[in-house]
Amino acid sequence: MNVKGVALAGVLAAMGGLAAAEAQAQGKLTLYCSVQEEWCQLMVNEFQKKTGIQVAMTRKSSGETYAQIKAEAANPKGDVWWGGTGDPHLQAAEEELTMPYESPLLKELHPWAAAQHGIAGGRTVGIYLGALGYGYNTETLAKKNLPAPKCWADLAKPEYKGEVQVANPNASGTAYTFIATLVQLWGEDKAFAYLKQLNGNVNQYTKSGAAPAQAAGRGETLIGIAFLHDVITPAIKGLPVAAVPPCEGTGFEIGSMSIIDGARNLENAKKWYDWALSAEAQALGAQAASYQNPSHRAAPIPAQAPKMDQIKLIDYDFKKFGSSDERKRLLARWDAEIKVLGN
Ligand code: G6P
Repeated sequence: MNVKGVALAGVLAAMGGLAAAEAQAQGKLTLYCSVQEEWCQLMVNEFQKKTGIQVAMTRKSSGETYAQIKAEAANPKGDVWWGGTGDPHLQAAEEELTMPYESPLLKELHPWAAAQHGIAGGRTVGIYLGALGYGYNTETLAKKNLPAPKCWADLAKPEYKGEVQVANPNASGTAYTFIATLVQLWGEDKAFAYLKQLNGNVNQYTKSGAAPAQAAGRGETLIGIAFLHDVITPAIKGLPVAAVPPCEGTGFEIGSMSIIDGARNLENAKKWYDWALSAEAQALGAQAASYQNPSHRAAPIPAQAPKMDQIKLIDYDFKKFGSSDERKRLLARWDAEIKVLGN
């Protein structure tokens, strides 16, 4: 290397050092993410590019993330919990595992998103909306010469023995939404009698809520219970899966975000929170093949998103089904009456 080369190398080394120093100055953020991996990654990359803040991200289902935050409460490791169904976020809020925050963007959100913030004493906020349903593999259905299911009740019929997949409600917020939906549609005893019967048709209880929809797309199960937008994702990728909004009506999620109480990187957590509520950040979902309805009023609703006004939605009682007592009690009843049966 000549003198010039040495000098240039020195300058480059100094620049590298500067970039590293700058990243360090911007600091870090530990993010717990409960949506699909692809969307988690895209959000992290865009936020890092925009702010220089280094994000360490872990993707886990909603119930699992809630349990992790609770387990870490004496020594919190995460800063922000972004995504996942609202009920466990509400439970975390009630148990003060998360902290109140008033983002300046609150007033730009749809009323349902701000309402979530209201019932949680400011400890969580709505970031998207999604309706529950199921998908079935159209090729398998034709091959097996089975009728197309239309209702929740259909899924428990003997002709679908071994053909239904759904997540475990302890791990998955989707599966908890399913139980809470049935309880609100039919009352608790009828809902559990149905779940017992359905258990005979279930081939697997997965960890992740969207997994059954993907499995239905690949033909690994005939039917997968999931949010309708999670059924649309494999359908748009060209897999033979049809989405069904059940005839009795269905529940929905207010996907949520919370700042973890005791966050070590609180200023960066607020930066993430404000950015994640912006129309610009919320438009990233569709780019990552996630087709929820975003909570910012100016964020575009993806053309592929299920049309919420064409689905018979129940008046989901988030305050009740997101309360600590109710969620604990329903999960314990599921363990005692359904999990014990095996499948
Ligand atoms: C998927 C959906 C989200 C939902 C999440 C819940 O990622 O696209 O809308 O909030 O599942 O995940 P879980 O695994 O907890 O059911």
